[in-house]
Amino acid sequence: MQAENRSEHQSQPSRSSRSSHSSYSSHSQPPAPLISARSRSQPAVSMKLETVIPNFKAQTTEGPISFYEWQGNSWVVLFSHPADFTPVCTTELGRIAVHNPHFQKRNTKLIALSCDKLKDHNDWVADIKSYCLDIPGAFPYPIIADESRELAVSLDMIDAVNKDNPELAMTVRALYIISPDHKLKLSMNYPASTGRNVDEILRCIDSLQLVSRLKVVATPANWTPGEKVMILPSVKEEELPRLFPKGVDKVSMPSGKVYVRTTTDY
Ligand code: BEZ
Repeated sequence: MQAENRSEHQSQPSRSSRSSHSSYSSHSQPPAPLISARSRSQPAVSMKLETVIPNFKAQTTEGPISFYEWQGNSWVVLFSHPADFTPVCTTELGRIAVHNPHFQKRNTKLIALSCDKLKDHNDWVADIKSYCLDIPGAFPYPIIADESRELAVSLDMIDAVNKDNPELAMTVRALYIISPDHKLKLSMNYPASTGRNVDEILRCIDSLQLVSRLKVVATPANWTPGEKVMILPSVKEEELPRLFPKGVDKVSMPSGKVYVRTTTDY
């Protein structure tokens, strides 16, 4: 992995740094914050929601990539896992591979990361394919080989307990959903002991893509596409007929406050 190596993390990069990033991005947008390699144990950028993921170069099972160029105009699920040749990770990478067509349908690219060697990744992919016989065709997404852990540190994917010990430090099960403008829209952090749920990842993408298109709603607990959504409290009563011509339900509450307004008109 080669992080874009700059001396300072700048939230408002200068004009010159802006132009140095432009070749990686297909969007007219503010440039990324810049990764600093100051420390091998501290994230170079905050991974708070809405952070612009810094561009980076990496070696992967599909060849070297420059992240922004590879991302193109897609959404991305970038996820780390503790190590190759481990059982839970095998199920995770396998189930995510099986569901690749569902990610493709959502204009979403997948990319995994761990701190193992490229050769291990390639050997392990053969195991995953043998274990998950329902993966159609070639393994459908790249796996980043981040042997130096530099990228994992930069993206805050290293477990906190062992982060300063390169012998023991592993990537956690971090998962970032990134919008086409390279912004971190959702993050999940699971411990090594708990494999992730692919349906939940897809459900989150559905919610994020809906609210990115229709900025006046939010999706409730356990929502899946087609079910009612919540209208944002900031939407004024008089705007409702224009925004939701097919109707709005207003739920009466003991408090007398009307704040649960739902619609399936989206
Ligand atoms: C696993 O993928 O099975 C695993 C990896 C690291 C620690 C514990 C479990």
